Amino acid sequence: MSAAAILRLGTVKGVSQFQEHLRLRHLAIPCDAEILTGPDSPLRSPIRCGAINIGNRITAQPMEGWDGTTDGNPTANTLRRWRRFGRSGAKLIWGGESVAVTEDGRANPHQLLIAPHTEKGLAQLRAALVEEHRLTTGSDDGLLIGLQLTHSGRFSRPHEYDHPEPRIACHHPILDARLALSDASPLLSDSEIEAIIARFCAAAAAAQKLGFDFVDIKHCHGYLGHELLGAHTREGRYGGSFENRTRFLREIVEGIWASAPGLEIGVRISAFDIIPFREDAAPSSKGKHGPGIPERFEALLPYRYGFGVNPLNPLEMDLTETIGLISLLEELGVRLVNISAGSPYYSPHIQRPALYPPSDGYAPPEDPLIGVARQMEVTRCLKQRFPSIIFVGSAYSYLQDFLPNVAQAAVRLGWVDSVGLGRMLLTYPEMLWDTTEGHPIQRHRICRTFSDCTTAPRKGLPSGCYPLDSHYKESALGEQLRILKKR
Ligand SMILES: Cc1cc2nc3c(=O)[nH]c(=O)nc-3n(C[C@H](O)[C@H](O)[C@H](O)COP(=O)(O)O)c2cc1C
Repeated sequence: MSAAAILRLGTVKGVSQFQEHLRLRHLAIPCDAEILTGPDSPLRSPIRCGAINIGNRITAQPMEGWDGTTDGNPTANTLRRWRRFGRSGAKLIWGGESVAVTEDGRANPHQLLIAPHTEKGLAQLRAALVEEHRLTTGSDDGLLIGLQLTHSGRFSRPHEYDHPEPRIACHHPILDARLALSDASPLLSDSEIEAIIARFCAAAAAAQKLGFDFVDIKHCHGYLGHELLGAHTREGRYGGSFENRTRFLREIVEGIWASAPGLEIGVRISAFDIIPFREDAAPSSKGKHGPGIPERFEALLPYRYGFGVNPLNPLEMDLTETIGLISLLEELGVRLVNISAGSPYYSPHIQRPALYPPSDGYAPPEDPLIGVARQMEVTRCLKQRFPSIIFVGSAYSYLQDFLPNVAQAAVRLGWVDSVGLGRMLLTYPEMLWDTTEGHPIQRHRICRTFSDCTTAPRKGLPSGCYPLDSHYKESALGEQLRILKKR
């Protein structure tokens, strides 16, 4: 689909025109005409479930900055971002950003690490967030703060941003080829996986000591936990059957209940997936990207290389095992689940719908609103099936000017418990808080999904909103990015 055929939401004149557009395109996205404020706002209602108390329905999604020190500590830019997470007014902070539990499991040399030498830095991030949150909302009552724990698995690049050092759980015919791996390339052994499980449990205990209310055991976006869920072809204790593919998660959850009693656990999952996509043709001399197309899969059927994907047609999702996974989490006592999809590395259009692709991406193969609607619909189905789980929904930023209207409707209708803000946090963190205070939207701060927050790290620079946030736009980094993009 050419980008020209996609309606620019910034040009839509008002919510009724947007509602009409949704109707004409048969997009099942609920959208309220009027934004309610103060205690009348559905987005301001608290969530209470056992010991969990969350003061409103706004979540700050984890947003990594690729801006830590090489030993895994935060920098001034990291601290600034966490302050802005606090300023969002969100009462649920889903992890801040991904923090690696082992040195070799870092996704880039600037990813945060949880280890004794970084504890002070992580505590400072949390404290800065709380302080800023109090200034915005007047109190930290009902503020629930998590730390997202991760191992990057296949996408580990601990030493150089452009030098993959994959730690794979199973072979994947398409993704292995992209990394020049062969069938003989080694898999993580069961005992290496056991050691990683122990690191997750120790990291959770450390996070509790630092004051975090919960940890997210990251199982999304192609990283190790997610890859293990789809490790159908792996042999041994962590592959093959559903029971084996969920053993990693089960053992971490059970280990944390034992080592950090009282700490809550959340799990962010890629609830569905798709065959990896690629750009149809190289970018033109004008830098325009070719459209995304699926890799060929006829020779790979039944497709056994993913989670939440139809083995007979990997262009379609299959939620059977996703439902099994959430049942399992419910049995284990996990109450917090964050729904995401796919991976930014091989299916960005389903994970973070955008009009403009990052440097390593492709032009949108569908109207990005379809991507938003897909994640919302899956979350709605899962919420209906598991009413006692607290679900956070993702991929709302593409809604731009109409994000508050859709967020309010989704919560009001019970499609989701809390609306997650991802890219919007980088430009306009307090968007939802402000609108529920009755303030007009500041249109010049709205994320237009230019994807420079992904392009910059793909070129070895920190993430941030380079087009709209003057802190980045007017810095030496902004100049560097402009030069790198021209090359
Ligand atoms: C620059 C950037 C950094 C991100 N960092 C993380 C991360 O650390 N952990 C994670 O689970 N997701 C991460 N995500 C995904 C977002 O949390 C979110 O799911 C995605 O951007 C879609 O939501 P949105 O439409 O509100 O942006 C990141 C996305 C971007 C663009």
